[in-house]
Amino acid sequence: MSSPGQTAALSARRSGPLRGRVRAPGDKSISHRALIFGALAEGLTEVEGLLEGEDVLRSAAAMRAFGAEVEALGGGRWRILGRGGFSEPDDVIDCGNAGTGVRLILGAAAGFDLSATFTGDASLRSRPMNRVMKPLAEMGARFLHRSGGRLPLTLRGGHLKRIEYVLPEPSAQVKSAVLLAGLHAVGGAVVIEPEPTRDHTERMLRGFGAEVIVEDLPEGRRITLPGGQGLTGTRIRVPGDPSSAAFPLVAALITPGSEVTVEGVLLNPLRNGLLATLQEMGADLSVSAVRDEGGEPVGDITARYSALRGVDVPADRAPSMIDEYPILAVAAAFAEGVTRMRGIGEMRVKESDRIALMAAGLAACGLVVEEEPEGLIVTGAGTNRPPVGGAAVTTRGDHRIAMSHLVLGLASDAAVRVDEPGMIATSFPGFVDMMGGLGADIASA
Ligand code: S3P
Repeated sequence: MSSPGQTAALSARRSGPLRGRVRAPGDKSISHRALIFGALAEGLTEVEGLLEGEDVLRSAAAMRAFGAEVEALGGGRWRILGRGGFSEPDDVIDCGNAGTGVRLILGAAAGFDLSATFTGDASLRSRPMNRVMKPLAEMGARFLHRSGGRLPLTLRGGHLKRIEYVLPEPSAQVKSAVLLAGLHAVGGAVVIEPEPTRDHTERMLRGFGAEVIVEDLPEGRRITLPGGQGLTGTRIRVPGDPSSAAFPLVAALITPGSEVTVEGVLLNPLRNGLLATLQEMGADLSVSAVRDEGGEPVGDITARYSALRGVDVPADRAPSMIDEYPILAVAAAFAEGVTRMRGIGEMRVKESDRIALMAAGLAACGLVVEEEPEGLIVTGAGTNRPPVGGAAVTTRGDHRIAMSHLVLGLASDAAVRVDEPGMIATSFPGFVDMMGGLGADIASA
């Protein structure tokens, strides 16, 4: 597997109180979209606070390959000069570890008269692409691909027609791919999502001057993108990523005596399922300085060490916290009682099978865990009895599995070691330094 910035294994040891104020890195979902929308648009897009993680840098390189001028100005400021369309790339597009990157770019590129071949690292090559190929093929795109609809694959785009697509799984990536293709389809596109998923694409399409109609109907949310629309370059300020902020916040909740504030975190209601769940578990979390940044609600979140209790997490909450279940499972490991997470089958097709890896990692650290086809049940060690820890955890190159187990190690009896920590740079390049600044003992093993 290709491993960005590969370093030796890391160990997290029991740490003193975590204290301080930090800023979460830029939101990964919004960062990918800023680059892709900027490249599709006519004219200049200026971005502040872009996440300069490996996944997003792959999307930046891909947008250059499709003909946009993309320039890093330093400190998260980027400039994208779009040409109102994509041209045929000279070489294979390697999206690395990034499912969001490849699926959104497939949709964006499908509307143009070009051929492009896409690949990725071993993890991405094992993930399902048929979920985007199916609707895009229905619109008129053609694909050459390996059996099972996996990367590498070649897209032949152009001459798309309107689609009305009911999402078979709650996936913002699939919704976004169809809407982006709809920009260049005769008659546009309609997506119906029975369960609402993150709406950054709808918000950003509007920010780039497109008309998007969203209706809440009995069958779900119906999103209509009328055809024949172009995008115009704009300015974007990327808010802090709640999926990354979750790691220092949960670390503070489980480490005695801690108080940590993460500033500038995106509070989009379709992304804040973890906050609601932690509050139900008894977490002392407060949100302050709520403001609007570039069309998204943002605030500062403070977490203080808390006695947590197990809860049942409703299945319909899954889309609003799908990337946060690994770190929720860690919080559950410190709670009194049982936490049941159901309706989370999508976790099995992320950067790794996250249900299997969290179950294995927590069990290796001495916890009682039950794995279900679409669920995970964790019996907490209890507030005054930290988990045993002491395991060497296999992350299969999954950044969130690595960060979750490092957080677990900060409050377990014995240190927890993770392999492939270099993969953390895909979404949270400064993770180890930021946690160290708060007082966490995370070092090479
Ligand atoms: C994302 C959507 C989610 C999420 C991923 C980012 C997006 O994936 O897990 O990290 O930016 O649209 P799915 O669409 O597969 O649920």
